[in-house]
Amino acid sequence: MSISSIQRFTVSLSQRVRAGCTRLRKRLVASPRLHDWFYPPEKIRSPEEEEADKYRQFNVDYFTDLHAQERMLADQQRMAFYHQAITRKIQKGDRVIDLGTGTGILAAFASRAGAGQVYAVDHSSIIDHAMELAAVNGIENVDFEDVHSSKLYLEEKVDVILHEQIGDFLFDEAMVPNVCDLRDRLLKPDGLILPSEFELFCEPMTLHDDRRVPFIWELNDVYGFDFSYMERSRPKDSEYYGLVSCDLGFVKHFLGEPEPILSVDLHTVTESSMPLKVKLTRKVTRAGMLDGLVVYMKAKVDNDLVLSSNPLDPKRAPHWGFRILRLDQSDVEVGDELEVTLTVKDWSNPETWDWNCGQWGGE
Ligand SMILES: C[S@@+](CC[C@H](N)C(=O)[O-])C[C@H]1O[C@@H](n2cnc3c(N)ncnc32)[C@H](O)[C@@H]1O
Repeated sequence: MSISSIQRFTVSLSQRVRAGCTRLRKRLVASPRLHDWFYPPEKIRSPEEEEADKYRQFNVDYFTDLHAQERMLADQQRMAFYHQAITRKIQKGDRVIDLGTGTGILAAFASRAGAGQVYAVDHSSIIDHAMELAAVNGIENVDFEDVHSSKLYLEEKVDVILHEQIGDFLFDEAMVPNVCDLRDRLLKPDGLILPSEFELFCEPMTLHDDRRVPFIWELNDVYGFDFSYMERSRPKDSEYYGLVSCDLGFVKHFLGEPEPILSVDLHTVTESSMPLKVKLTRKVTRAGMLDGLVVYMKAKVDNDLVLSSNPLDPKRAPHWGFRILRLDQSDVEVGDELEVTLTVKDWSNPETWDWNCGQWGGE
C-alpha cells in the first residue's frame, strides 16, 4: 500500500469516527433520561458565593507565602504597635482568640503577656509554622485550630479577640464579618477586641509632577499626537480607576485637612450598620492638581498607640500599600470646596466601590 493511500484511509477513518461521535452526542442530548446522566445539572451558585470563594482561596494562598509573612514581621511600626497593645491590654489569665494567627507571633506575644489560654486560628497552612514557633520557644498554652474562623467552636467564651485583618483598603481582608462573627458567638459580654477602633481615609490629593500618570484621553500632546479621542473608550470597570501600583514617591500633598470618611468600633459595628454611601467635603488649604483620592487607614488602641498607613506620615507602617482612586484631573485653588461621594456595595470588595468628586470655586 502506498503512503498516500494510507493517509487517505486514516483521514477517512477519523472523519467517520468523528461523525459517529457527533451523532451519538446528539442522541444523548436529545434523550432526557440519558442527558442528565451524562451531563449532570451544575449547582447554580450566586455571584456572591462565587466572589466569597474566590476571595477565600486568594486569602488562604496568599498567606502561605513566607515572603508575605516576612514583610509583616519586618514592619517595625506594625510589630511595635501590636507588641505594646498586647502587653498593655492582656490581663493575667485572660482567655484569648488570635484570629488569623499566621506565624503565631501575636498568639506568642499574648502568651508571654500572661494569657491563661490562647486559641490561635488560621485557615492557611502557615499555621504549621505557628505551631513550631510555639514549640521551639516553649509556649505551651496555645491551642492551634486550622479552620476558617467561622468554623471555630469553643466550649468557653473568651476575654479578648486579637486580630490583624487589616487590608490596604482597611476592610478588604474581611475584618468586619470575621471579627463580628467571633464577637457575637465567642466573646464575653464585656470582652475586648484588640484593636477595635479603625478609621478609613479617602483624601483628595495631588501627585508629584514626575509621578503623575494621566488618563490616556488626557494626553493631548505626546510629541504632537493627541489621544483625547480615547475618551470615547473610557473603561467602565472600577478596577481600571483604582491605581494599585503606588509607592511613597507618588503623593505630593493632600489638598485639604484629612479627616476619616468612616470610623468603626468593632465592639459595636455590624456589617449591616455600615453606610453604603459616604460623603466628605474638603476646603482646599493647599492648591494643586486634583489627581485622585488616596485611601489609607488608622487603627487606635490608646491616644498614644496608633498605627497608620498614611503615605505622608513618616511613621507609617511600611508594609501596607495605599491605594489611589483616580479622578479626572482638575486644578484646585485655596478656598475651593471639594465634595467626595463614595458608594460601595461591599466594603470587603473594593471592586464594588464607586467614587466621584465635585468641585466649587471659593469666594
Ligand atoms: C494579615 S495576616 C496576620 C498574621 C499574624 N496575625 C500577624 O499579625 O503576623 C492574616 C492571617 O489571617 C488568616 N486569616 C484570614 N482570615 C481568616 C479567617 N477568617 N479564619 C482564619 N484565618 C484567617 C490568613 O491566613 C493570614 O495568615
